[in-house]
Parts: sequence; structure tokens; C-alpha cells
Amino acid sequence: MLTGNQIRKEFIEFFEAKHHKHFESASLIPDDATLLLTVAGMVPFKPYFLGQKEAPYPRVTTYQKCIRTNDLENVGRTARHHTFFEMLGNFSFGDYFKKEAIEWSWEFVTEVLKIDKDKLWVSVFTTDDEAEQIWIEKCNFPKERLVRLGEDENWWAAGPTGSCGPCSEIHVDLGPAYGGDENSKLGDEGTDNRFIEIWNLVFTEWNRMEDGSLEPLPKKNIDTGAGLERIAAMVQGKSNNFETDLLFPLVEEAVKLTNSQYGRDEEENFSLKVITDHSRAVTFLINDGVIPSNEGRGYVLRRILRRAVRHGRLLGQSELFLYKMVDKVVSMMENAYPDLRSNIDHIKKVVKIEEEKFSRTLDQGMQLVNQEIEKLKAAGITKLDGEVTFKLYDTYGFPYELTEEICQEKEIEISKEEFEAKMTEQKEKARAAREVVMEKGQDSFIEEFYDKYGATEFTGYTTLKDTGKLLSARDGKDGKKLMIFDTTPFYGESGGQAADIGIITGNGFEGKVIDVQKQKGIFTHTVEVLKGTPIEGEEYFLEVDEANRMATAKNHTATHLLHEALREVLGSHVQQAGSFVNGERLRFDFNHYEAMTGEELEKVEELVNEKIAEAINVSVADMSMDEAKKAGATALFGDKYGDVVRVVSVEGFSIELCGGTHIDNIGKIGLFKIESEAGIAAGIRRIEAVTGKGAYKAVKNIEMLLKNVEKVVKSDEANLLDRVEKMVETIKENSKELEELKSRFTQIEAQALAENSEVINGVTVIMKTFKTTTADDLRKMVDYVKDKMTNTVVVLASGADKAIFAAGVTKELTSKVKAGNLVKEAAVITGGNGGGRPDFAQAGGKDATKIQEAMNAVKETLKNSL
Ligand code: ALA
Repeated sequence: MLTGNQIRKEFIEFFEAKHHKHFESASLIPDDATLLLTVAGMVPFKPYFLGQKEAPYPRVTTYQKCIRTNDLENVGRTARHHTFFEMLGNFSFGDYFKKEAIEWSWEFVTEVLKIDKDKLWVSVFTTDDEAEQIWIEKCNFPKERLVRLGEDENWWAAGPTGSCGPCSEIHVDLGPAYGGDENSKLGDEGTDNRFIEIWNLVFTEWNRMEDGSLEPLPKKNIDTGAGLERIAAMVQGKSNNFETDLLFPLVEEAVKLTNSQYGRDEEENFSLKVITDHSRAVTFLINDGVIPSNEGRGYVLRRILRRAVRHGRLLGQSELFLYKMVDKVVSMMENAYPDLRSNIDHIKKVVKIEEEKFSRTLDQGMQLVNQEIEKLKAAGITKLDGEVTFKLYDTYGFPYELTEEICQEKEIEISKEEFEAKMTEQKEKARAAREVVMEKGQDSFIEEFYDKYGATEFTGYTTLKDTGKLLSARDGKDGKKLMIFDTTPFYGESGGQAADIGIITGNGFEGKVIDVQKQKGIFTHTVEVLKGTPIEGEEYFLEVDEANRMATAKNHTATHLLHEALREVLGSHVQQAGSFVNGERLRFDFNHYEAMTGEELEKVEELVNEKIAEAINVSVADMSMDEAKKAGATALFGDKYGDVVRVVSVEGFSIELCGGTHIDNIGKIGLFKIESEAGIAAGIRRIEAVTGKGAYKAVKNIEMLLKNVEKVVKSDEANLLDRVEKMVETIKENSKELEELKSRFTQIEAQALAENSEVINGVTVIMKTFKTTTADDLRKMVDYVKDKMTNTVVVLASGADKAIFAAGVTKELTSKVKAGNLVKEAAVITGGNGGGRPDFAQAGGKDATKIQEAMNAVKETLKNSL
């Protein structure tokens, strides 16, 4: 019996023997703005099908990791739904067509997999006589087990537009125990669980246009897809994918981690299958650089991960457990996907952090739902609004099913339709936003220009001065010209490297190049006119600003060194998430889950500078992607198979695919200085740094600052730290002393107040106005008086520009006069307001010039009320 790993291997070897080139599985993140995730084996090859790019090999075979989430709620419920799965495929780009595709699939299924011929059924598209004939005549396939099916079943497309075609599918019949009866045929109603599709052969020869019409593709192609998990189930005699050797060890791991049992209860099985499936998706998504977030792929990851955790809870596991599944996934899959092992720590960390976050959310969400329900009950309402369930889900990540469950317990109605309507609304919004982004990329002028002249020839890797024929000079903004030449040494902004600047002269024209943008291989120079008018068709002299180019090159090469140093210090999960270099500085964004420590930053900076001191040569070579990977080049997402790539290496240290301009020896960088490290998005950090002259300037600035500080504190470099430490100590001591003195002083002032007293109707009345005493000190004085005296009213004021008042009344008098009323009266006169307790109150007003008037009024009031 073949194991899952053997099936994968047999498949690739079978097609290699038929002259197919084996390509490694591409990233789950496609290089395709219209797709969120790699959903089929053909995704990396779309440009070859559409004829947008020349395929590097006419025949290719892969096992491709895929993720589909369109049926998420079914995953775990059924025997065969998955988020993550592997698709075995063979592809022909304008090479062989239906005959070979059908014959080879038949040969593989019957001779390698050895699936019982009598159990096989085949479908072809309604009108596809050719495919039917091949099956019957070339494979001897019995006509009675071949059916013709329509568009829903036997037409395949990756999306609403683009390459597509009729297909032919191979199915295994599990027998009437799984649906239908002795006479049932493939495609009959109620037989979905009985006839299991194991291989889809797509005859990709059409291109679906925006208006829905079909146009023939430049060449006829083959795209096939066979689900590895299903095939394993059929070969291993299992009716449930989760019981194959590809997945069952994970089920067992989930059983162990959640203390449950497989096979005794349907709901329990459901949860175990969810955890099993999702642990693979989560591991692979994070391995390919996705981080949980509220958007795009990050959101897909978050949903899947949280669904798994939620099912852990349903099984009674409220401790963190999912991250522990990663170990098992990696050990089972690392043979086929070796990069998993090197990222395992990172993957586990990301899962654990998100698991923790979600556990908190669950507790919080539980409270929120309960609160909402309480509110409803109090208002006599018996239904929870879709707006609320959606908000709980969208804002707090609280799963709908959980809200539903709680509502059911509390006999509150809840509407899934309303919730789903809100979801659809949000999806629509997201889709509309995506379309806008895609449209922005269109530039019809450049399209037409490209069709007419082809790409600009870039000579700037080897020269900084060149002549070029002016092909187009359009008017840009503010009198600038947009100039395109047949040849240019000017680097166009790309790959995170800023454009060159420089000068263009010739035919009485002189202009300053301030920007160069590259679209479809066309370099458009934005030029500030200094003299004359450019004439199309004439030759011009193009000269790149050398100092700026060199400074940029130093920053770019330093970025590569930084990338490698980060991987060495933080771990191999570090991947570039973006970068920008120009003549001034460099910026490097990378994935890492937490802020770097001071020590890590120092290590990185030191490592880069140590390398610089080794003055290693930088070499640049063009090679095939395969060669580059063999050489150990850091592959980024979206790099294509077979493309010729430019590889930049710093011998023995860094090797990267890169189209930028570099220095020829890293010694020229001179000095590398990190200026800052900060987080810019969930799981993404940014380092900014300077090199060469920029770094020298940065160091110089620090020196200047130091010199100035030395001058101010009257010290020199050797004694500076000591001096500053002592000063801080003295300041601390002085402040303490000052505090003590102030409080003593307040006491003395308060004592002195008694001398300002006068007696009105047997009551001691103390009133005094200060100039700059603070509200706090006024309060202290009032407290002191109240503490020491009896039968006393005290009213104090202070203020240079604003007026403040504090009043105190000893307790035997509070029935006669109230401190609150006294300060209120004073405050109102000075343009303010306030009040307080009967025994103590504070208030203030805007106009300090009216303090005396206010105090007089208060005295009158006292005379009248005492
Ligand atoms: N691309 C085809 C599928 O996904 C083979 O079914």
C-alpha cells in the first residue's frame, strides 16, 4: 500500500520520466493581484497559459501546496473538505494536449496507483467528442461508465476572467453504501459521497474576456490537478481523508492535546478534524510569511487559527494547545517542504501569541454578548440584531457560532441571514477596493508606447554616461518634461531603490533629471528644463549624478548585509517585507514578532561593520532561478520559476536576487550606523540606517551634542558621565530639601495668618491674598488653620493673572457659613465658577485684578451671616 509520501514521489517521478521538469511548490502567496492565495497547481503558471510570458519548459510537474477557504464551515464536517491540501499536477504549455493527458492519467491511476479499473468512472464536457473518443479508443474505457456533464461540473476556470477550458474528471465509485443504488451513474443526484473525484484534467484553450465571451488562447495547454489527500484515501481504502497516513497522526496529536477521543461522537470528530486540518493551514501560511491581521491573507489566517482554537474549547481545552500541533505538522511534512524546519520557532511563536490573544477575546466576547443580551431583555426585545453579531465578529473576532450558541441558551433569536448579509456587504467593499487598485496600474500611453517601441535599453549597470535617442517628450506638471529614450543609463525607481538623478544635454537643450519611473520596461524621465526645448528623434547626452549613485549603491549593498545580519542574530524567519534606499539613507522592513532589544541591535550593527572591514568583493551574475536557488539565494515571494534572475553576492555572507545597483566592494561602505528600529504593522519591524558619509555625519552630530553638553555642565569627555551623575544626584537632594523647606514655610505662613485675623460676632475670620502661592499651598494653609483653630473661617486668595481661592470653615460653623458658597461668590466676581464642601472648597476665576473686590464681597457676606 502506498503511503502519502510515496504517492507524491511516484507522481513526480512518473511525469519526470515523461520529460516533465519538476518545479518546487510555489509560495501560498501568489504573485498575482487578483488572487489572495494559491488555490490550485496552475496558479504560478497563469502567465504561461495566457501567453504573457514564454514558459521556460514546455512540460512541468509539481506537487503544489494550496489553500481554499470558500467552504470553510464544511471543513471538519465532511470526509473530504480541507483548507490546506496538496495538488499533484502535470502541465503542458502549448506542448501535448488531450491525448497524452488522458492516456497518462489512466496509466498512472491503473498501473502506479493500481486502483481497481471496475471502480473508475469518467466524465467529459457535454460537447467533447474528442475526449470521449480518446477514453474509449485509446484507454479501452467502458462506455457505460463514461458520462457527459455540463458547465457546472466539467468546465474549469481559476476566476471569472482568464484562461479556462472544458475538463475531464476521473472518479472512484465507493459503492451504493455511500449513496444511490445499483443503477446509479456518476452525476446522479445524491451520489456526491459515493463518486469521489480524484483527478481533474483541464484542456485549457480558452480565454474568458471581461464581457464573458471566449477567445482562443495563443496555444492549447494542459492543466491537471489531483488531490493528494483523496488519492491517498482511495489507495489506502479509507472513505475519510482524515484517516489516511497524511492526516491521521495529526488527529491523534489533537486527541492527545485536547484529551478527547476520535470515533465516539460526531461533534467530537468534527472538532478534531477542524484542528487537524487547520493546524496544517496555519503552519504553512505562517511559513510563507503571513501574520494574523484583520485584512487579506492575515485575516484568512486569523479566521482559520481562531476556528481551530474555538474547537479546542469545544473539546474542553481552554489552555493554549494549537501551537503544539506545529511540531507534528513540521515533522510530518518537512520531507516534502524542507523550509518548514528552519522556520519552526517563528511559526510556533506566532501561533502562540495569536492563541493567547484570542483566548482573551473569547473571555471578553463572552461578557459582551451577555451584556448585549441583558440590555435586550431589559428592553423587552427578544432578538439580537445582525449589526451586533457582525460587530462582535468583525471587531472582536468573536465567532458567530458562539454568539448563536449563547443566544440559544438565553432564548434570544439570532439571524444568520442578517449576519451573512453584513459579511457580504463587507466583502463587496473589499472587492471594490481591490478593483480600484488594479485599475490604477493601467496606463494606456505606456501600453501603446510599448507596443510601438518595446522596452527601454538600460545601460546603467556598466556606465553612468550614455547617448540616447529621444523617442517621446510629453508635457508633465509645472513645466516639466516627461522624456523617454531608446537607451538610458538612468536607474528607474524599482525594487525599493530610488531613481538616479542627473543631467540631460544636447541640441541646445539642458535639463535636470529629478525622477525616473519604470513601467512595462519603459523608463520615463521627469526633467526640469534649464534651457531650450527637447526634439523627438534627436540624440541626447545622458549623465547620471555619480556621487548620488554611489551613495545609493552603498546604502543598497548595506541593506543586503543588514538582511543577512538580521537572519543571523534573530533567526532565519526574518524575511524582507519591504525596503527603500536612496543617496541619503536606507530603510529595511522585515517580519519579526517583537521589538528588537538594544543588545540585538548592537550585535547586528557590529556584525555589519565587521563584514565591511573585511572589504569583500561584491559580484553580480545573471543565472536561471534554479541555479540561483542552488547557490543559496534568498528567494522572495513571487519570484518565478525559470526566469533569468540577477544575483548579487557578497562572498561567504549574502546572496540575493536583486535588480539594484551596488558597489563593487563592501569596504567602500566605510561605516554603517543604525538610527532607529520600530514596529510599523503587526509583526513587521523597520530599521533605518545610514552609511558612508551619512554615517560619518551622524557620528559627527553625536560628537557635537556631546561637546555642547560638556560646555554646559563644565566638564570634559573623560569626566562627563561622572559629572552628570553627580549633578542628577545633587538635584534630587536639593529637590527634597526644597520640598521640606516649602512645607515648613507654608506652616509658618499659616501661623502668621492668625495675626491677620479679625473677630466678627465672636468668630475668628482670617482673610489674606497672596501673589504667587499655588492652589496646593493654599489648601495646605487652610488645612493647617482648620486643624489648629476652632470657631474660625479662613478665606485665602492668590493669583498673578488667574485668580484662585480656597476657603475653610471649622465644623461648629458649617451650619452658618459654607466654604463652597464663599469661594463660589469670589469665583463668580473674577469671571469663574466653582464650589465644594461646606468645610472646605476651592475655586478660580480668570481675572486676577478683581481679587480684592471679590475678597471684600466675601467679607460682607460673612458679616451678614455670622
Ligand atoms: N486547475 C484544476 C483544478 O484545480 C486542475 O481542479
